[in-house]
Amino acid sequence: MTPIIAPSLLSSDFANLEKEIKMLNKSQADWIHLDIMDGHFVPNITFGMPVIRAIKKVSQKPLDVHLMIEKPERYIADFKAAGADCLSVHWEACPHLHRTIHQIKDLDMLAGVAINPHTPVAFLEDIINEVDFVVVMSVNPGFGGQRFIANSIKRVKELRKLMDKHKSDAMIEIDGGVDLENASKLVDAGADILVAGNTVFGAEKPAEAIKELKSGNR
Ligand code: DX5
Ligand code: ZN
Repeated sequence: MTPIIAPSLLSSDFANLEKEIKMLNKSQADWIHLDIMDGHFVPNITFGMPVIRAIKKVSQKPLDVHLMIEKPERYIADFKAAGADCLSVHWEACPHLHRTIHQIKDLDMLAGVAINPHTPVAFLEDIINEVDFVVVMSVNPGFGGQRFIANSIKRVKELRKLMDKHKSDAMIEIDGGVDLENASKLVDAGADILVAGNTVFGAEKPAEAIKELKSGNR
């Protein structure tokens, strides 16, 4: 299976965002992954609506917006208006997850739920038929360039099993520490979408790295 590749702009050159996005437009990237952090849910702060609006003007690819914020339900319509096509919220940040997921779907965005590395996959059982995708975090969210947590491969397999059991057609996105070594293992385990920050923007030729991630070549 050929995975969807979603480069994370977090590792890009923010002083040259237009150039970076134009490079992605020309590359084999499928989506552009945007990491929104609030300094509460995670110990880091990134960017918000004005930056997403600016990215939207240049991007020819769908924007996959990953919310690492508390009370994300307050901002769903704002992210839609800023240009989000796919929107994921964290299981750990949503006491009314079912409602929040439907808020996202009602605005015609793909709705995703993200789980931290220690959150049991089984906790998704009652939401798996409502979401369009699950984001399995393979690092503790907050920063780019962290080391892949090896146990995540097992978690992807477990999630695939749970989805098969419930006949869910949701996609599995893996986020954090994805590189040319683990990419094909993750796809074999059942991942549909690979997020990659450092592996793409740390490469000498980012478009080549995207191509290699997509083809499973090392
Ligand atoms: C981590 C973010 C990731 C991050 C991925 O909190 O959610 O999307 O940007 O970056 P790499 O691929 O460098 O781990
Ligand atoms: Zn992310």
